[in-house]
Amino acid sequence: MFESLERLQADAILGLMADYRADGDPQKVDLGVGVYRDEHGQTPVLAAVRRAETQMLARQTSKTYVSSTGNAQFNDAMELLSLGASHKGLGGGRVRTIQTPGGSAALRLGAELIKAAAPRTVVHVSTPTWANHMPVFNGSGLKLASYPYYDSAACGVDFAGMVSCLGKLSAGSVVLLQACCHNPTGADLTDSQWLELLPVFERGGLVPFIDMAYQGLGRGIDEDAFGVRLFAAELPEVLIAVSCSKNFGLYRERTAALHVVCGSPAAADAALSQLARSARTIYSMPPDHGAAIVQEILGNEALRTAWLDEVVAMRTRMSALRSQFVSHLSTAQPGRDFGWITRQYGMFSLLGINPAQVRAMRVAHHIYMMDDSRINIVGLRAGNVGYVARSLTQVLRECA
Ligand code: LMR
Repeated sequence: MFESLERLQADAILGLMADYRADGDPQKVDLGVGVYRDEHGQTPVLAAVRRAETQMLARQTSKTYVSSTGNAQFNDAMELLSLGASHKGLGGGRVRTIQTPGGSAALRLGAELIKAAAPRTVVHVSTPTWANHMPVFNGSGLKLASYPYYDSAACGVDFAGMVSCLGKLSAGSVVLLQACCHNPTGADLTDSQWLELLPVFERGGLVPFIDMAYQGLGRGIDEDAFGVRLFAAELPEVLIAVSCSKNFGLYRERTAALHVVCGSPAAADAALSQLARSARTIYSMPPDHGAAIVQEILGNEALRTAWLDEVVAMRTRMSALRSQFVSHLSTAQPGRDFGWITRQYGMFSLLGINPAQVRAMRVAHHIYMMDDSRINIVGLRAGNVGYVARSLTQVLRECA
């Protein structure tokens, strides 16, 4: 049966991680996968997570099953974190949440829900978008299309192009948006752009599916959720995938959720029942550990404050690294403006170099980034930022 199987290429991001690990050069720099790193290049367990884990494990008396929808207290806490305490959608009983094994599963369950409700729906994704977005939606069999998002000449959002394209979509189209820290560009919508987009969705009868994988790491917990909260309050139907991988540093614990906002409480109950059925048939139930940690942190004032301080520290480090990188680049290449890097948010920016130059960075300098020149800013640190800036200058000079 398996003799006829074609051998597939490794996933672009995971393949790059493996290549980096296999490189024995002591100067190697990992600007690939989107994980937070400290000044020592480590991805530490957050102190609040360690404390919560100890408390939670000391209290835990059973490892029995939870349910297909996951940990109910975690789901409630995530609704409050994503939507804010006095949100209209929560008050109206129109929001339901399912815990999922990672943000990818939240996206995939949302795709399954769309397919169950309207199988011919087209999902529109930004150009460019996270490397796994299209495969996840393709996996559910939904059709995909794209809308313009990034203006590579201006190194910012092509808002006019985006609005003009979305304004022509047919009613019922799903539009995948990113709440903050856009992956891979770092170019985010401003609050006023979210406000301008709202009537485009209202007039067109479009359904937003918002991916919020970096809440707190862009401008702040509430600031990063501006678009999510606005759309969830004003539109009848919204899907929101949220992840605790980055802001709680729980990557391998696969801790995430999908919120569904529906037109009525009855529709929301029906949607949750469909999601629970999808979960049951794909992976049955989500893992407990990460969700129990997040529940512990968000439900305890002292732990929550400690965690929020750590989120601020991660965010501040990322924005400081952006400034340091730009300052090193300006020294290495006077006359060329890299200031746009400091106007972007989160872990990622696109350097805007071509595939041959990306390859030269890898082969000649052992600096790893995605083929589209996406770098993870937080792979930089005091000990390598100058080296990366000088290597980039050399590659731009020698490799056209
Ligand atoms: C990334 O974009 O590098 C991260 O979100 C990790 C992943 O799963 O792709």
